[in-house]
Amino acid sequence: MNAATRSDEETRPVIDLALFGALGDLSQRKLYPALYHLDREGLLHEATRLLGLARQELDDDGFRARVKAALTTYVKAAELDREVLERFLARLEYRQLDFTTEEGYAAIREWRRESADCPLVIYLAVGASLYGDICRHLEASGSLDEQSRVVVEKPIGYDLDSSAEINDAIGAVFPESRVYRIDHYLGKETVQNLIALRFANPLFGTQWNQNHVSHVEITVAEKVGIEGRWGYFDEAGQLRDMVQNHLLQLVCLIAMDPPANLDADAIRDEKVKVLKALQPFSEAALGRDVVRGQYIAGTSDGKSVPGYLEEEGANRDSATETFVAMKTGVANWRWAGVPFYIRTGKRMPEKLSQIVIHFRQQPHYIFDPDQRNLAANKLVIRLQPDEGIALEVLTKDSGLDKGMRLRRGPLHLDFNSAFPKTRIPDAYERLLLEVMKGRQYLFVRRDEVEHAWRWCDSLIAAWKDLGEAPRRYPAGSWGPVASIAMITQDGRSWYEDY
Ligand code: BG6
Repeated sequence: MNAATRSDEETRPVIDLALFGALGDLSQRKLYPALYHLDREGLLHEATRLLGLARQELDDDGFRARVKAALTTYVKAAELDREVLERFLARLEYRQLDFTTEEGYAAIREWRRESADCPLVIYLAVGASLYGDICRHLEASGSLDEQSRVVVEKPIGYDLDSSAEINDAIGAVFPESRVYRIDHYLGKETVQNLIALRFANPLFGTQWNQNHVSHVEITVAEKVGIEGRWGYFDEAGQLRDMVQNHLLQLVCLIAMDPPANLDADAIRDEKVKVLKALQPFSEAALGRDVVRGQYIAGTSDGKSVPGYLEEEGANRDSATETFVAMKTGVANWRWAGVPFYIRTGKRMPEKLSQIVIHFRQQPHYIFDPDQRNLAANKLVIRLQPDEGIALEVLTKDSGLDKGMRLRRGPLHLDFNSAFPKTRIPDAYERLLLEVMKGRQYLFVRRDEVEHAWRWCDSLIAAWKDLGEAPRRYPAGSWGPVASIAMITQDGRSWYEDY
């Protein structure tokens, strides 16, 4: 069914969106631009409205001016259409609210009086410590009904116990079927493509297991440093900030068994099985298979940049990691013995998220012995930037003098040049649209969050016992030398060509 034949109700359901943290960074950088783009694409119903909620005193016009400024900053000028902008701003209203006391919440109920009898979506773009209070006050003020949904952002807690506490507080008001936990990686077009690639192509379906895959590599590198978030980041570190959620979600999508269908629970049940099967680290493996790093001063784009301990607001004694590399695995029939090499860090030379599936070599090899190391296919999935997929294959090198010399080359699908008219939407556009439609398959279920914490908690506890300081790496490098040694000790290397 294409969009034109679907009912309006299905493609653009009406909602009332109450946004807590309406003047915060996430709202300005991500949520307003995403909603604006949905409006521009004709995917926001005329009757859809947004109520901004924050502590600051502001009237509706003042709020619209702030949102307009955010859109002018974060939406490309060529995509900022005056008519759409006016239409979008006209949907907005604002109420000042102290989130921690019940008094002001009646304003939400009042606002709902004008509603088109549609679901209320509560978006909590605020710290998780406020989730419990907000949910309770919403309920007590009579603002909710059995259609209301809540959207929450990561990090959900700091470890298993704190995440359980937060989830309990949300769960006391909203049933799981109406809780939308965001991991924005799941909203990325290329991440969703992992599901299409794996389950729509029989070619890969038959090869996707330990009989054919030798190892899997996942890199999520960021060029930026801490960007004024030192306080938050130092409490968390790269393992909690990136691995517990985004990287483990990527592992799940690569490693999970085919779900019976695309229903949220069918997919999430399979992901949970992967999380339960993640290999824990033994004491012996910890020193060998896990590398923690922290960046020191170096260069980025040719400019000198400070080290982590010299960033604004830094505590000079911090032992928090800004880089993690590890060799782990999924202990089940499909993946037994296949290493998953994972690395992620801040202040790397470039922004790059990429998955490489390394297939096994031919069981019987008949070409020149000195080319043997060429003889394995690789599937390179580039998540960002330059989204695309490349399958490295071997062909005969051309020329009369080449005999049966082999040559490695990619079968390459570059999304931007193959589909030039298609704008790759930001993750938040897709996620907001799915919330409006009431579909949960791109959101994280409570047990996923908890299994991921369980695995991370045991790693963090083991690090603590080991008591080692993170290894230093210069800003603008690919991380500590030990992270290269970690993979070369297995006779492999991090994939570099694309
Ligand atoms: C966030 C982390 O979840 O993801 C940030 O808190 C990180 O530290 C960001 O920079 C990376 O997201 P993206 O979409 O830029 O890869």
